[in-house]
Amino acid sequence: MGDRWWRDAVLYQVYPRSFADANGDGIGDLAGVTERLEYLEWLGVDGIWLNPIHPSPNVDWGYDVSDYTGVHPDLGTLADLDRLVTEAGARGIRIVLDLVPNHTSDRHPWFRERPDFYVWSDEVPNNWESIFGGGSAWKFDDERGRYYLHNFAPGQPDVDWWNPEVRTEFERILRFWFDRGVAGFRIDVAHALIKDAQLRDDPVIPGLGMRRRYSMYRPETHDILREWHALAREYAPPRLLLGEAYSLEFEEWASYYGAGDELDLAFAFVLTHANLDAAEMRDVVAEVEAVLPTDAWACWTGSNHDIGRFASRWAKGDDALARCALIVLLGLRGTPCLYYGDELALESGVVSEDRILDVASPSRDPGRTPMPWTPDGGWHDPWLPLTDTRRNVEDQRADAGSTLHFTRDLIALRRRLGDLRSGRYEALPAPDGAWVWRRGAGTLVAVNLGMSAVAIHGVDGSIATCTDRVREGERVTGRLELAPAQGAVVTS
Ligand code: GLC
Ligand code: CA
Repeated sequence: MGDRWWRDAVLYQVYPRSFADANGDGIGDLAGVTERLEYLEWLGVDGIWLNPIHPSPNVDWGYDVSDYTGVHPDLGTLADLDRLVTEAGARGIRIVLDLVPNHTSDRHPWFRERPDFYVWSDEVPNNWESIFGGGSAWKFDDERGRYYLHNFAPGQPDVDWWNPEVRTEFERILRFWFDRGVAGFRIDVAHALIKDAQLRDDPVIPGLGMRRRYSMYRPETHDILREWHALAREYAPPRLLLGEAYSLEFEEWASYYGAGDELDLAFAFVLTHANLDAAEMRDVVAEVEAVLPTDAWACWTGSNHDIGRFASRWAKGDDALARCALIVLLGLRGTPCLYYGDELALESGVVSEDRILDVASPSRDPGRTPMPWTPDGGWHDPWLPLTDTRRNVEDQRADAGSTLHFTRDLIALRRRLGDLRSGRYEALPAPDGAWVWRRGAGTLVAVNLGMSAVAIHGVDGSIATCTDRVREGERVTGRLELAPAQGAVVTS
């Protein structure tokens, strides 16, 4: 395993504007994250991924970058970032930033000064459509009298990755942050950088709609990822490349690992999108395990700033089911990435029509509401509303039976048990509704996601962790019974 630190890590995603507000202006900031390092160390996470922190007109809340080596004034300064990196490092926590290489803001100076950094056409050349809706991905620019490509919002012109100078600029950006001690990057839309050189039409499949084969998913994108991989390996410890490789097709998704020389980790969104259903998830994981190159593994996540929170989507507000989901995320072979609040089984927030700030529709804001720190939230007039504070850090930290303590203990168990961190995954036969797998030689993980009690045979050992905590320490001899929405880790 060597120095690939992410193989042993639990990652934690922070949406900076919503995590913690140090100066009381209602917007979370970098100093706020630094203030909460004590909490994150107590929880046991090894790395924090921050959504974009750079100057941005915030058309897409930081995913429209206007300066790749700066810090957005709402979030703090470069000195605040340096301090966060240092103080997190002192607690054994690494900081991972978000790289947005597919597009910039239309207010990035390049857009006026270096038009050759973007994709242009005299006429609308093809049928490509913006992901955010509104039709064509091409917009007429009055100043140039030509059309530019925007796969996302019009304020996010796509960069021309065929231009070698673009590549040089981004290598400089990677090094700028790596040299400062940043531990890696989550790479936004990592599958999309190169566009078809001939700008061919995306195929439209009857019944399935448009398939983005030419506007993204071009094979030449792999060359860029390989170059970055080599660059990241020049550093000690090596810097992490964690890709948002958004494909629900297994083979294509796995291709972004290359032969172990492209992405180090890719989010397995195919699991994120699955239902919390034993058979469905077991099949997904079997496929993932089958397509991954030797010595690679997935990054598992249930929630993020785009898809919302698993406590709502998967668990429908049921804490027992949310704990089962946590066992899944932390018990599979791979690197888990929790989204801030997942450890509380936090549900998506409620954002009324007049408070919506997101450019996309349906709005992703319910999954981006502020972290509830105290019974009254702990925020002063936050940028997005915080209405439900029933699940909050203060109360749950004071309650040993809370989901927060459950998550913390599960993370600690993962650290203690080599099997759970890196042991082989093997699905075992299980009754309907249950999903049971072995990790390594001596650890068994089981969740009952069905509606009736199940008995799993051939299990011997003792319960190390259980969603129903009173069962911990219980001896299992030949038969493990699980009530609905119960899950356990059994060690022999
Ligand atoms: C990614 C981000 C999303 C953003 C989009 C455009 O999918 O996760 O939040 O809107 O890219 O940058
Ligand atoms: Ca603030």
